[in-house]
Amino acid sequence: MVTPRANLAPMLSYRHAFHAGNHADVLKHAVLIALLDYLNQKDKPWWYIDTHAGAGIYDLHGDYARKTGELDSGIGRLWERTDLPPMLASYVELVRGLNPDGRLRLYPGSPWCALRRARRDDRLRLFELHSSDHRLLASTFSEAGRQVRIEATDGHAGLKSVLPPPTRRSLVLIDPSYEVKSDYPRTVEALKDGLTRFVGGTYMVWYPLLQKPDARQLPSRLKAARPPGWLNVTLTVHAPLKDGFGMHGSGLYIANPPWTLPALLEATLPWLVKTLGQDSGASYTLEHEIP
Ligand SMILES: C[S@@+](CC[C@H](N)C(=O)[O-])C[C@H]1O[C@@H](n2cnc3c(N)ncnc32)[C@H](O)[C@@H]1O
Repeated sequence: MVTPRANLAPMLSYRHAFHAGNHADVLKHAVLIALLDYLNQKDKPWWYIDTHAGAGIYDLHGDYARKTGELDSGIGRLWERTDLPPMLASYVELVRGLNPDGRLRLYPGSPWCALRRARRDDRLRLFELHSSDHRLLASTFSEAGRQVRIEATDGHAGLKSVLPPPTRRSLVLIDPSYEVKSDYPRTVEALKDGLTRFVGGTYMVWYPLLQKPDARQLPSRLKAARPPGWLNVTLTVHAPLKDGFGMHGSGLYIANPPWTLPALLEATLPWLVKTLGQDSGASYTLEHEIP
């Protein structure tokens, strides 16, 4: 079901198609799949809520992706590898499902990863504000029926309308483009508000590693939400640039992660640093408190 676009939408210029399959997508989507696989260990259905869903699927041979070539910093470096750690093997297998002839052309966005893992009674609730990406997303999921609902409204605000989920099991992905400054405080607020509505849910916030203060302060502001358990992981692919600009890596803050996640990440991150690292500044950090 698709609802009409809200009138109050800001002018958005970010298109994820320019960045699909880059190093940040590798980390985010590999962890996302691991979280869904954990939820699938129980029979009870879950809700997947994506506050900033993007277009769903990306053509890596399309104009946007070819212009930046960002897949060469990410999935392109994993595609031919035969020594993938288990978490990345599951991720690459899912991407291969979209590219059955073995040539990397289509890249799955977060909603597509979730749909691939969804069972009959699991549900996807997706928010996407950009009119073009919303159209693409709606057309990609046009056959999905009641299992997927897509809203062309603000995802930070929309989160309130879907929590708590009726099944009391959920994974929320908060993955803004941070193209507007207010994305930083609004993401912190959305996490805090989400936890007050449903303290038992798992929430994953993606953030860029940038040199500007808003981005540097975000992880500690997220930690201040004080969920019962949390995990923070960062992957730096190169040293911060001298001009102060550019994204040198990305991070994920996860509220209520499964207890199995730290070990999975420990087994994956050194390999990712070696494979995706672009200079001697490449590194990772992993912190967690899981009761
Ligand atoms: C980083 S991309 C999402 C990528 C996607 N989650 C994935 O992993 O495949 C961020 C998306 O949020 C959309 N967006 C920006 N502001 C929004 C808002 N306030 N509410 C919902 N979507 C928004 C952008 O148009 C863009 O498609």
